[in-house]
Amino acid sequence: MEYSRTIFEEYHIDEDVGFALPLPLEELPHPYDAWISIARNLPELIKNNQLRMEVEKLAMLSIDDLRGHRAQRLGHLVLGYITMAYVWGQGDGDVRKVLPSNIAVPYCKLSEKLGLPPILLYADCVLANWKKKDPSGPMTYENMDILFSFPGGDCGKGFFLVSLLVEIAAASAIKVIPIIFDAVKREDSDTLQKALLDISSSLRKALDVFSQIHEYVDPNLFFNVLRIYLSGWKSNPLLSEGLLYEGVWDTPKKFAGGSAAQSSIFQCFDVLLGIQHTVGGVPSDPAAEFLQEMRTYMPPAHQSFLLSLKSRPSVREFVLSKGNAMLQETYDQCVQAMVALRNYHLQIVVKYILIPASRQSKAESSIEDLEAESKGTGGTNLMDFLKTVRGKTVNCLLKEH
Ligand code: HEM
Repeated sequence: MEYSRTIFEEYHIDEDVGFALPLPLEELPHPYDAWISIARNLPELIKNNQLRMEVEKLAMLSIDDLRGHRAQRLGHLVLGYITMAYVWGQGDGDVRKVLPSNIAVPYCKLSEKLGLPPILLYADCVLANWKKKDPSGPMTYENMDILFSFPGGDCGKGFFLVSLLVEIAAASAIKVIPIIFDAVKREDSDTLQKALLDISSSLRKALDVFSQIHEYVDPNLFFNVLRIYLSGWKSNPLLSEGLLYEGVWDTPKKFAGGSAAQSSIFQCFDVLLGIQHTVGGVPSDPAAEFLQEMRTYMPPAHQSFLLSLKSRPSVREFVLSKGNAMLQETYDQCVQAMVALRNYHLQIVVKYILIPASRQSKAESSIEDLEAESKGTGGTNLMDFLKTVRGKTVNCLLKEH
């Protein structure tokens, strides 16, 4: 099937790991190894207050010898880690508003080459930040590790790896997408129904994997440490003007922080199932605008994939037009699986952001006040945003459940 070949070749999607980068590189050749050694010792350098000094000593490197997609992705990942560490320092509010040119210039050139913004992205710290301990072993938490860490012990490993494993669990459903479009084209309801069953079962597996977050991520470390290093400089009062990339631009630039809202996997099934966050292609509210903006933080090939899905015949319209109760029920199971993922995610946000925020808040704020005030690493008013997105998903169910 032509579309199947295109998905896996043209859109940089892997049969096994989906949107994740298959077999990320772990080392860069000299002279780029200087970046790797800082990124690898980040927590130690931050603790000893040496990180900023080491960064300022780095030679300005041309990126011309950084050849091949995997080397460039590793370069983007390590420069992202170094930049976050440089800006946020010890995470105590002593922030830097200028990124020195010896790091800013190669970082922005490399970002331009990859078509990505110059800030640590989900595509870096989750999709390109992993390895298997035993290369012939399974893709399980126990047999995997991350390549680079922030302060906060194993909290980062838990957050990044669980996100990656959710991606990979849902990735098995990507293979089914060409079958779905082919079935719609041939008006073959039986094949479509089987394919939709595969999708709902992969999404349910993803939900299962999601629950590992409780085992591996500590709410206080997440809220008080890791979250700081993932924060961006857009809608962030600590860097209200943005970050000045010295030697690149004359004025500061604003970029949103790393968030799983930059993952393509949920947006991919939204588009496939016709869960619309836009009206006539235009974002209909701030939540939709944010989701649309987050696409610009995804690798360009993945953005093109989402656009290509949108240009295909509507699966939802086809299911509606057939009036086949079994087919409609199976379609609803897929939407229901997306609702379940978003419900679960909302509970996680309460546990990992709202509750720790309420403990920290000196004034006796209620959860409702905190809901209204809290911002995610991407800079959203997070509960409003997440509830709107969930609401749109629920509205897509054909029957009330
Ligand atoms: C400790 C765990 C997590 C927390 C605290 C958390 C928090 C958040 C927050 C605050 C947002 C709002 C956007 C922003 O401002 O960043 C968000 C969005 C989002 N997150 Fe998470 N998240 C967690 C884990 C995950 C995982 C494991 C996934 C799946 C890979 C995920 C997928 C998403 C998606 C897809 C969105 C966009 C909204 C949507 O499409 O429903 N999150 N998350």
